[in-house]
Parts: sequence; structure tokens; C-alpha cells
Amino acid sequence: MEQMLRDEKGFFSKLEKIASEIKKRDEFVVVYHYDADGCSAGAIVVKALERAGKKVSTICLKQLYKENISEIKAMGKNFLFVDFGSGQLEHLIEGFGKDFFVLDHHQPAHRGEKIIEHEWHANPILFGMDGGHEISGAGVSFLFATTLNKKNKDLAYLAIVGAMGDMQDFGGAVIGKNMEILKIAEQEKQIEMKIDLRLYGRISRPLISYLMFSSSPILPGLTANQENCIAFLKENEIPLKREGRGEWLSYEDLKEVEKKRLSSALINLLFDAKVPEWKIKELIGEVYTLLNEERKSPLRDAKEFATLLNACGRHAKPEVALAVCLGDRGEEYDKALLLMREHSTALRKGIEFVHEHGIQERKSYYFFDAGTEIQDSLVGIVAGMLYGSFIQENKPIIALARNGDGTVKVSGRGTSYLVRRGLNIGQALKDIEKEIPGVEGGGHRIAAGAKVPEEKLGEFLQKLEEKFEKQLQI
Ligand code: C5P
Ligand code: C5P
Ligand code: ZN
Repeated sequence: MEQMLRDEKGFFSKLEKIASEIKKRDEFVVVYHYDADGCSAGAIVVKALERAGKKVSTICLKQLYKENISEIKAMGKNFLFVDFGSGQLEHLIEGFGKDFFVLDHHQPAHRGEKIIEHEWHANPILFGMDGGHEISGAGVSFLFATTLNKKNKDLAYLAIVGAMGDMQDFGGAVIGKNMEILKIAEQEKQIEMKIDLRLYGRISRPLISYLMFSSSPILPGLTANQENCIAFLKENEIPLKREGRGEWLSYEDLKEVEKKRLSSALINLLFDAKVPEWKIKELIGEVYTLLNEERKSPLRDAKEFATLLNACGRHAKPEVALAVCLGDRGEEYDKALLLMREHSTALRKGIEFVHEHGIQERKSYYFFDAGTEIQDSLVGIVAGMLYGSFIQENKPIIALARNGDGTVKVSGRGTSYLVRRGLNIGQALKDIEKEIPGVEGGGHRIAAGAKVPEEKLGEFLQKLEEKFEKQLQI
């Protein structure tokens, strides 16, 4: 794919063009993607449109496949696609003519060498920005919302939550447009950023669970071993509760000196276990606290917030995710907390399945087929989690799940190291889409997916093997 020159002005004038067209119309259908970034993006756009006095209806999709077009069409008029659409412009033009809007950050579709154009299509990649790292779907939606009306800058925190959903803080910090959006959220007094231990669950998980359930990275001897976690905390004089109180402490409840002691002990543990140095370095970095959320709420940490949204969207309850993003802390929020438990159980079972059945190593990728044992909406997350433990960083991983409709869901995941070496999973899948009729796929360099007709699976996997060999020069 050709390298675009960075042109932020051009990107903003595209957003202005879209905003001015949207101002002329009264009612909209917002079509959003079901993951954490998609739900945050959907919520930002819905809020911005409602504030502008527009009538809004919504529809959430697992993916924008060709087969979904007629269902969307039946919803009304003035369609606004968020966190997908760039890869599917051809279908959209076929289905809606010129009359639709796209706010996306996925790699755009090509016809031959040429990128497919559309007047109301905003994608930072087309203006030289990195849609996989420096801005998410929620980020693009936020910049659109502030173009519509500056007052929408109070939605900045949702753009950071979306970026966390897409793991755009890999390396330990947000960069580029995400960093600028973070500054706005700080000015708005919504988010506080600090440098601290980046293990997942620092606010809502009791300390034992915080260590025991750590999967990124795996803590040798501690992950999945409750007894060792208790002993480790005791050894390092980290209290589990405060004297006279029943409440379990989380990492965030510890005193500064206790936090430092625990962080150093974990770093030593990883050094002793010969974990690569760059991985250990990533353990310390930016963490983002949502200042207006309650003390022990998972919503108080941007990553935990994103996981809660994934738990809703990926378990067929996107309306719950949307309600929580739009401020519900009552009935819908309670539902979200239950879904979060369901989500973490399903992921744990998914990992167990892979451990039991193993992973195949092919020439240019790791591979497992979960059949119907892991939901198609979760198989990609499970695949990504295996980098903490089960697989090396030298190859991408391809995972399959059966949809039960004669098609196979493919999820691909890589690492930033592989991307630096040339990996582009989204591009590989987009190329194969052109080569094998019936395949629909795309995404980012580091994470992408596809739907493949069952009878084309062998051919698909072979082609993928070749594409990765070429990209990674294996
Ligand atoms: O569609 P969208 O851009 O929102 O989704 C990107 C997906 O890629 C997210 O589900 C995110 O979890 C995944 N991802 C990943 N590993 C990365 C970066 C992104 O699994 N390093
Ligand atoms: O579904 P999964 O979580 O594996 O998706 C990873 C990334 O690939 C997401 O950003 C998703 O939007 C994208 N994707 C896509 N086309 C597909 C399937 C996934 O663009 N058919
Ligand atoms: Zn996204």
C-alpha cells in the first residue's frame, strides 16, 4: 500500500465537509461496530447528533458484511457508519449510492492500486496518520463531534476508552492524535494520566485476583496460582485489607510506598524468569483514571471500562454498552457488570480450550481451530492473549471459529514487533478477498478478521501462508 503524506488539515477539512452536510439533515441511523471501540464511537456520535437536535436511531453489527446492507437500508435514511465502512466502501456505494457517511480508522479498500473514494468518508489513514496506533474509531468520531460543535469536547474520555479497546497504548503510552485527545480529557478534568504499574484491574480487582488473573504479561509462578499470590504479597509486606476493615484492597488502594514495593518485586520476578526486557519495560507506563467514576468502579480505569464495553457488545448486548457510555449507572450498568463476569469466564474457558487442544505451528503463522467451542466474537481476543504465554512473537496467529451458517470466522492477531517487520494482516485478508469469491475480510496491520465459506477454507489458509511468508520474508 502506498505511503500517504501526513495532512492533518486535509483530514479536518474532510470532517468539516461531513459535519456541514449533516447539519442540513434531521434524522440519522448510526451503524456501529460491536467492540469496545465501536460502542464508544457509536455513543460519541449519538450524543453529538442528539445535542444538535437530530433524531437518531442505532444499529450495531458484528461486522459490516454485504448481507447486512438490506437490513440497514430498512432502518430509515441518512446512514452514518462508525468504526467500520472504509474496508466495505464498494458494498456501501453499491447499496446506498452516494448518500452515506463513514467515520473509520481501518485500512481502506482498494480497486486495483487505487483507493476507493467517497465524498463523505473520513479516515485518518488517507491523510497519512496511523489508524492502528494513533487514533481509534472513537477518536475519529470524537474529532467529528468537536467539528460539529466544540462543546462536544467533554466526550474526550470516551475516545480514550475506545483507544484502549483497540489496545492503542501498546508500548506503554498513547501517541499522536490519541495523545492530543488525552490532553483535552485532562483539561476537561475527566481523566488523570499517571505513570504506574499497567497490570489489568488496578482499580476494581482485589490484589490476589489482580496477580492471579494477569495474562498480559503472564506472571511466572503467580498467574493462576492463588496460594503463591498470597505468599508473594505477604513476603513483600503488601496488606490484603486494612486493619479493622472488611474491604479487600486493590492496587490503587495501596500507599505509594507499598505500590513501589509491589512493582519492584514484580519486575524482579520477571527478570528472574528471563522475560524479555522490552516486555518488562511495558509493565510500567501510562494508566488512565476516569475522575468522575466511583472509587471501586471498573469504569474508573479506561482499560477496565473498555473491557466492560467489550463484554456487552461481544455478548450481543451493545445497547447496554451504549447506555453505559451515555451515562447510565443504574439498571443497564448492573447488567454490564454481570456481562463482564460472563466475558471473563468465557475468555478463561477459551484459553483452557487452546491449552487442551494445542496450537499448530505452520511455516508463517500459528493456528488453531476452535470449532464451536469458542464464540466467533471472542476467538480473536483469545488468540491475542496467547502471546502472553503460549506462543512466540515470531509469527502471527490465525484462529478459527464456526458460525453455524456454513461460514468460518477467521481472526488474526500479531505483535508490534511483527508489524515493524512488515506484517499487515488486514492487507493480506483484503487481498485474499479479491482472490477468493465469498471471502470478506480486513482490519488493521496488527489485528484483522474475515468470514470464509467453509468449502474455501483450505485454499484460504494456503493463500494466507503465502502472504505472510512474503510480508515477513520467511
Ligand atoms: O474494529 P476495531 O478497530 O475497533 O477493532 C480492533 C480490534 O483489534 C480490537 O478488538 C482489539 O482488541 C484488537 N487488537 C488486538 N491486539 C492489538 C491491537 C488491537 O487484539 N495489539
Ligand atoms: O473480529 P476480530 O476481533 O478478529 O476483528 C479484528 C479486526 O478486524 C477488527 O478491527 C475488525 O473490525 C476487523 N475485521 C474486518 N473485517 C472482517 C472481520 C474483522 O475488518 N470481516
Ligand atoms: Zn476500532
